[in-house]
This record gives sequence, structure tokens and C-alpha cells, in this order.
Amino acid sequence: MKQFDFLILGSGIAGLSFALKVAPRGRVAIVTKKSRAESNTNYAQGGIAAVTSKEDSVEAHVRDTLEAGAGLCNESVVRTIVEEGPARIAELIELGMRFSEREIPESGGAKELDLGREGGHSKRRILHAKDVTGREIERALLAAVAAQPNIEVFENHFAIDLITSQKLGYVGENRCVGVYVLDNASGAVETFSAGAVLLATGGCGKVYLYTTNPDIATGDGVAMAYRAGAVIANMEFIQFHPTCLYHPKAKSFLISEAVRGEGGVLKDFNGVEFMEKYHPLKSLAPRDIVARAIDSEMKRSGAEHVCLDITHKPAKFIIERFPNIYQTCLQYGIDITKEAIPVVPAAHYQCGGVLTNIDGETEIQGLYAVGEVSCTGLHGANRLASNSLLEALVCAHRAAEKCLANPPAKNHLKIPDWQFGQAHNPDELVVVSHNWDEIRRLMWDYVGIVRTNKRLQRAAKRIANLQEEIQEYYWDFIVNSDLLELRNIATVAELIIHSALQRKESRGLNYNLDFPNANPDLAQRNTILRRS
Ligand code: FAD
Ligand code: SIN
Repeated sequence: MKQFDFLILGSGIAGLSFALKVAPRGRVAIVTKKSRAESNTNYAQGGIAAVTSKEDSVEAHVRDTLEAGAGLCNESVVRTIVEEGPARIAELIELGMRFSEREIPESGGAKELDLGREGGHSKRRILHAKDVTGREIERALLAAVAAQPNIEVFENHFAIDLITSQKLGYVGENRCVGVYVLDNASGAVETFSAGAVLLATGGCGKVYLYTTNPDIATGDGVAMAYRAGAVIANMEFIQFHPTCLYHPKAKSFLISEAVRGEGGVLKDFNGVEFMEKYHPLKSLAPRDIVARAIDSEMKRSGAEHVCLDITHKPAKFIIERFPNIYQTCLQYGIDITKEAIPVVPAAHYQCGGVLTNIDGETEIQGLYAVGEVSCTGLHGANRLASNSLLEALVCAHRAAEKCLANPPAKNHLKIPDWQFGQAHNPDELVVVSHNWDEIRRLMWDYVGIVRTNKRLQRAAKRIANLQEEIQEYYWDFIVNSDLLELRNIATVAELIIHSALQRKESRGLNYNLDFPNANPDLAQRNTILRRS
């Protein structure tokens, strides 16, 4: 058994930030299922929203967040995260993060942070590193982690399940005491034990056929927490990003909202602008509205994509501001300085997750959750662009402070080794790949941008059957990461479907044709699911 003071699952912005804060006070393990930089964080483009300009205010950022959240944000959480953002940004810069700067006009060459704009923001407030903000965040955080002797990073280690006192058969409060982890290289399942465990496993974009997310985003943290008895909230609110590159060879490549922030305009297949039909902010309307508008235009015209046109801007500006998008599109034969970019909506962000307070505490003692895996109340029914990196930074800091202020008691529970039982090597891997594809298509077709009761009920029936088959397979065969991910996407798909069935209204990202309006008298604001 490997014993640590702090055990962190995930090496994105949430996990790494937390690790750096607790490392001076104990031994830290970071368990991450692929290489250390591989995370949603690494692909973030637009940037981090924070109030750093004299023209901006906390009040304005709070107002924009509440507006996007469609009545479901927790206002005090919003206020705290927005207020504490600038201090956390200053720490990140101190650590070595290099945000893009611009020359202050008529200042003789003095520089200030360059602030971008995105949908739903009333001010320019997005700090960015050109269009590769996430890559630069990971670089800076990983360099700082490497300099910390107290932190050990376990790459290619897959967290299978949380070990809790209740699962071990103890009565009384449920406490998380460790995690079973698959070492992908050896196939061995190791036991990690720690006084405090942080879930920082990110989101679940891969539950959908089309997504902006990399392969790691299979909702493992939500599935593990659900199995352990934690409360899961608001999983119906899956955010679809309006502009993912449409090209047969491009896998999940995002075209940042910052392109629209800098003047990019959405046009239909025939080059005609359409967003004025849907919202006064046109191409910069909140994301849920833009994604639905594109979906509706595509369904109406039968076109396979719409277009995003920024060719009216000078080529030099486009290439300097969006070097990654420019180069990537060019690889696919699209010169974005000369032609419009074909785009489609794709699953992007999980607004719900493991229910926590603002300090990342879950209902299970010793278990914290921070970042996309968590549901703090910041995003409500729809996340404001670039608020997620901000939430992860602020909440990682708060969770670390909480954890250090209440040092976890030493674990005296006896933890058994992982039992392989009668399991043998899988004989028909086609079962895994078939079910994997079926779930992702089912979710895209029946539980996508526009929902109906009938489609949701069909999806619920299908997923119940698939779950049965997957569970049987799980118990019969020796685990590997494909099977574990399949088991997790099935669980998360089920949680999304059942949450969407419970919400009998259209609000924010949950749009159901059978309940086209928001219910003004909601008895219960959050959709809550807990394993019975
Ligand atoms: P992640 O960064 O996703 O990290 C999760 C980590 O957990 C990974 O290391 C992963 O390998 C590991 N992991 C997962 N499961 C397991 C397991 N079972 N065992 C071990 N390890 C596991 N947000 C913004 O605010 N601004 C942006 O500009 C922005 N742009 C984005 C662009 C793209 C293309 C995408 C996909 C997202 C973007 N987002 C943006 C959202 C934002 O990047 C994420 O919400 C945020 O990075 C999540 O950080 P995290 O630390 O919670 O999770
Ligand atoms: C983007 O750059 O469009 C992504 C921003 C976000 O998801 O917050």
C-alpha cells in the first residue's frame, strides 16, 4: 500500500494548483491516467476571466455570470470566486505564467495585460496566452510541481474507485480513506491511502459523439464519487460549444470564442449572417443561445456545418492573435485569413458534477472535489465563457486552506488489497468498442442540444440495458483502462439522462421541447442524484 498525506486524482489546473498549496505540509501523490500534461486544461484556448482592468468591476463580472447562469447560480459563490480571482491570477503570474501583453497606447512602450472578449461578457476581461492559454498554464504549473520534492507524480495510473469507510463495512460517517489505482504499464491494481483525497478529474465530453474534449474526459470522477455515495448535482447542464472545427480529419479541434470576440461572424452555408434572428448580441450571444441557433440553422437547411468568418480582419492580426488556430486550420487546407471556417457545435463542458461547497468539500469526509468535476454553484444552468479556469484556481486554493486548517486524522482502517476474484482476460473486446460507440451516439442523438421527453425516455431504456451488459462484463474480466472508461461513461450518461428527465422546464443548457419555458416557481433549484 502506498501512503501519502494528500492524494490528488488529476493533473489539470485544479489538481496541480492544489498540490502546490499543500506540498509544504505533507507528502503529496498526483495520480494521472495519461501523461502529466494531458488534460482539458492543456487545450484551453480563450483564457481566464478575471477583473484586472480599471474599466471593469467585480459587480459587472458577477452580473454577467448570473445572467449566463439563467437563475440557478449561487450568488454568494459567484461573488467570492470573482472577488478572489485577481489574487489567484497574481500568484499564477508569480509562479511563471506568461499571459499575452499589449503596448499601452502613447506610453512610450509600457505594457499591460492584453484582455480578450468572449460571449456573454460585457467587458474585455479574458487574460490569455495568445490562443494556447491552457498549454502555458500546464507548463507553468508542472514546472513548479517538478521543483517540489514533496510531490510525486504517477503518470499512466488510472484511478478505479474511491475506498470509503462505508464500502469497507464500517458504520458511522462515510470517510474516504484511499483509492484503488490501475498501473497501466504493469496491469497491477495498487492501493493508495491518504488522509485527504482530491478529485480533480475534469469533465465528461467523451460521453458525446462530438466533443471539443481530449480522450481523458470520460467523467471518471463523477462516476467514482457517485459509486461512493456522494451527491451529484445538475448533470443535465452540458454545455455545447458553438464552434468546433468541421473537417473529416480533425478530431475535437476548438475554434475559440475569442475569434468571435475579435470580430468573427457566424454565417450560414451560403454565407448569410443569421445570429440577429436569435439574439441582440448576435455572434457574441451567450453560448447556449448560439449553439441552439446553429443547431436550428443546420436542421432547417440540412447543411452539415455553418461558417465562422474573420477574413475582414488583417491577416497579420489573425496570425499573431490566433497562431494555433491559424496553423491547425492551415494543416487541413483552410486559410482562415482568406476563407470562412466550417464549424459545428460539440459537447464542451460539464456544468454539474460532484456537489461541493465553495471550499471543495463533498458530503464524504476527507473527499474534496475541485474544477470541472465539481458543482459549486458558480455556473448555474450555463457557464459563462472562461469562468472554469477561474473557478478551478480559486477553489483549489480554498480547498487547500480548508484541508490544512483541518488536518485529516491518521487512517486506522484496514484496507484490503484489490480482489481480482474469478476475473479472466477479456475475450471479446468488440463488446467494449461497440458499447462505447453506442453510448456516445445515443447521447448525441437523444440527449443533445435540443431534448424531448420521448427521446430522453428512449435513452433511459437503452442505457439501462447497456449498463447491465457492461456491469456483467466488468465483473467477469480483468480490468483495463478501456473497460473502466466504458463503465464510467455509461454511469455518467445515465446521470445526465435522469437529471434531464427530472428537470421539467427549459433553462440555460437544458432545452426540452415538451417544456419550452423556464418554470418561475421551482421548488427545487438543483437536480440532485445520489446512489440509493
Ligand atoms: P482537467 O484539466 O481536465 O484535468 C483532469 C485530469 O484528471 C487529467 O490530468 C486527467 O488525465 C485526469 N484524470 C481523469 N480521470 C482520471 C482517472 N480515472 N485516474 C487518474 N487521472 C484521471 N475554460 C476556460 O475557463 N477558459 C478557456 O479558454 C477554456 N478553453 C477550453 C478549450 C477546450 C478545447 C476545452 C476542452 C476546455 C476549455 N475550457 C476552458 C474548460 C477548461 O479547460 C476545463 O474546465 C478545465 O481545464 C478543467 O480543469 P480540471 O483541472 O478540473 O480538469
Ligand atoms: C474558448 O476559447 O472558446 C473556450 C472558452 C471556454 O470554454 O471558457
